[in-house]
Amino acid sequence: MIVNEGSAEIIVPEVYHGPGKRGTGFYNADQKINRDITIEFIKRMGVHTVLDGFGGTGIRGIRISKETGSSVTIAEVSRESYRLIMQNVERNGSQATVVNDSFECVLQHGVFEYVDIDPYGSPAPYLDAALLGVKRNGYLGITATDQSALTGSVPHKTRVRYEAVINNDTFRHEMGVRLLIGYVARRAASLGRWIEPMMSIWHGHYYRVFVRVMKGFEGAGRMMRNMGYVNKHTLLWDMYPDMDEGPVWKGNIQDDAVAKDVLGSAGHMNFNSEENRLLFCDMTDIARIRHTSLPPVETVLQSLVSYGHAASRTMFSPTGIKTDASCTTLEGIMMDALRRRSPA
Ligand SMILES: C[S@@+](CC[C@H](N)C(=O)[O-])C[C@H]1O[C@@H](n2cnc3c(N)ncnc32)[C@H](O)[C@@H]1O
Repeated sequence: MIVNEGSAEIIVPEVYHGPGKRGTGFYNADQKINRDITIEFIKRMGVHTVLDGFGGTGIRGIRISKETGSSVTIAEVSRESYRLIMQNVERNGSQATVVNDSFECVLQHGVFEYVDIDPYGSPAPYLDAALLGVKRNGYLGITATDQSALTGSVPHKTRVRYEAVINNDTFRHEMGVRLLIGYVARRAASLGRWIEPMMSIWHGHYYRVFVRVMKGFEGAGRMMRNMGYVNKHTLLWDMYPDMDEGPVWKGNIQDDAVAKDVLGSAGHMNFNSEENRLLFCDMTDIARIRHTSLPPVETVLQSLVSYGHAASRTMFSPTGIKTDASCTTLEGIMMDALRRRSPA
């Protein structure tokens, strides 16, 4: 079957949606957004050398080489997938080099400014090689589809794989992204590296994070100050359970300027300022406790701003608001908005 995506036309055995199924030339249509964003990120950061570490059909590496002009190497361990990638590279007149070997081996022989990690499931087993192999001040793009572990929906997996505890509630996707970044940070620190998150995305069944990787134990020490536990009962509202979740990344999960440019150029997702705010207040949780309906999110945002608060939407919940106001203040503003809407 032939698929057109971006500048590429590729042969794929089958088109998948949702989480990965192992097989030759795995092509997931739902990850087009992931690839579009990756391409815009590479352009935005001015990257010249790219390792697409997990080839599949080759779609990612082929598109990157054609759409960014970067020099691209595609690694693929499976013999059959490698053959398919070669066919697709030729079909597209792409300059990408294809290697029938693991990305770990490729990294031992070359240095890349950007390394893409897009495995089936968890990226955890691949992080050390990527952190050690990427060029200093280079970037990693990391996809994770193991949401059951990252969101705490299967607690023993969260504990065993990420040595963490996450409560599977309204905040699970922000906590999932923070757990992923935090795990990358912990691995980096143990290797004398440190990271700075550039962009973080939750899209359906996967998370995608982009980080810059630097070298040095001093920086690693400074970075680790962003790690810690979150207690939603004390941080947000007393209706949430009094438990410590983590360890997670508590610092910025994106550079707003980068995220704004990249999402604007990719044209799929709205930009929200996610900088500087840990979690959010969720209007649905408040309405459930107060047995009320929901006022329009925009009305509540405007009221918060008119009272002098910072307030913005978040990608992690359609009824979530990132604000420096307390959730109790938000509750009052919601009630006001509802009263104004329904005349006595
Ligand atoms: C989820 S697919 C990649 C999809 C592709 N990146 C895309 O955007 O369509 C994962 C691929 O990585 C390959 N793979 C698994 N482990 C690998 C490793 N250590 N090095 C290189 N390739 C690997 C698998 O054979 C499979 O084809």
